[in-house]
Amino acid sequence: MPNPNLDRLTDYPFDRLRTLLDGLQPPQGRAPLMLSIGEPKHAPPALIAQAVSADPSLWGRYPPIQGTDDLRQAIADWLVMRYGLPKGRLDIGRNILPVAGSREALFLVAQTVVPRRKHGRAPAVLMPNPFYQVYSGAAVMAGGDPVFLPATRDSGYLPDLDAIDRTTLDRTALMYLCSPANPQGAVADLDYLTRAIGLARRHGFVLAVDECYSEIHDGQPPAGALQACQVLDDGSFANVLVFHSLSKRSSAPGLRSGFVAGDGALVPLFRRLRTYGGASLPLPLQAASAALWRDETHVAENRALYQAKFDLADRIVGGRFGHARPAGGFFLWLDVGDGETAARDLWTRGGLRVLPGAYLARDDQSGANPGQPYIRVAMVHDLATMEDALTRLVAILDR
Ligand SMILES: Cc1ncc(COP(=O)(O)O)c(C=O)c1O
Repeated sequence: MPNPNLDRLTDYPFDRLRTLLDGLQPPQGRAPLMLSIGEPKHAPPALIAQAVSADPSLWGRYPPIQGTDDLRQAIADWLVMRYGLPKGRLDIGRNILPVAGSREALFLVAQTVVPRRKHGRAPAVLMPNPFYQVYSGAAVMAGGDPVFLPATRDSGYLPDLDAIDRTTLDRTALMYLCSPANPQGAVADLDYLTRAIGLARRHGFVLAVDECYSEIHDGQPPAGALQACQVLDDGSFANVLVFHSLSKRSSAPGLRSGFVAGDGALVPLFRRLRTYGGASLPLPLQAASAALWRDETHVAENRALYQAKFDLADRIVGGRFGHARPAGGFFLWLDVGDGETAARDLWTRGGLRVLPGAYLARDDQSGANPGQPYIRVAMVHDLATMEDALTRLVAILDR
């Protein structure tokens, strides 16, 4: 008998897109362009190859699940530098755990912190709507009850924390936030993060903040939840876990390298779970990861490439489709009336593959899907390719 919770997993957005476009052909003579998947396409830093080939003997050893001391130290130093944390506040034994990409960590956090019941009731797992789909899969497979919090234009594309009722908060075991947000690019400020942490502590749940787009930003670097802990009080990271990744920061999604950091009681539990079911990161890749966390030059270059593409979007898309330059991340979130219709049109008329926003969201209480009018466009290709793509997109949709 398969696990019945599997029936509660909806098809993943890219499978739904395949079904939508099944049998539809892109125009003859046009190379199709994938703007649907948020897979960074900038050249990965040369540092990776150098670090990986430095010591071939490392392939001959089982990697420690908790990561090498060197990698955890590189991560701790980066967090201290990036978020202005006091030196020594992070204990690399208790507060930091490298993971094989933030995706698995975002999934496993639910296995780590969602109990069978909370105060005698089904535990709730809160998440923004629309959202990165792993959150709901994680909630369901952990036996939790996913609760979708509207993150629409009206709420600044982040959940309205004041709108969550007390009864829900009391049965909440875990809340996911994403800043910069996928898909809308909204950024939570320090005040928002401190309020979210306050809720987590008052109502006894874990706040999981997905910060994997933190280095892809436009203006000031986005605030982080560990920084918000610092502002709040004694600098304990109680109830808070943050998730980071080298996939976006360093344009290295194939490296499968990220980390979870925060609450010194939870990180060791997470480690225990990973000892049984987590993928460990090969030692040469841990060495490459440490080198990447210690280097900011490639990160600034990477960010500048995205900024140039958002200049391009401002110029080509302009004020159409509700476009507003996102504060972070690398997606355009365009209000095109009906996302599925637009996705079909863009594919058949322009060879452009984009994701209908509905596939990233769930129906709200009124039965409306807040992503339905939108498409998500991943700005991952080089500048010239994106210029061509956006020009085609506007020509097809702006009728
Ligand atoms: C919001 C968000 N979180 C997490 C991830 C996972 O990234 P990775 O597993 O490559 O670290 C992604 C990847 O697309 C994402 O968009």
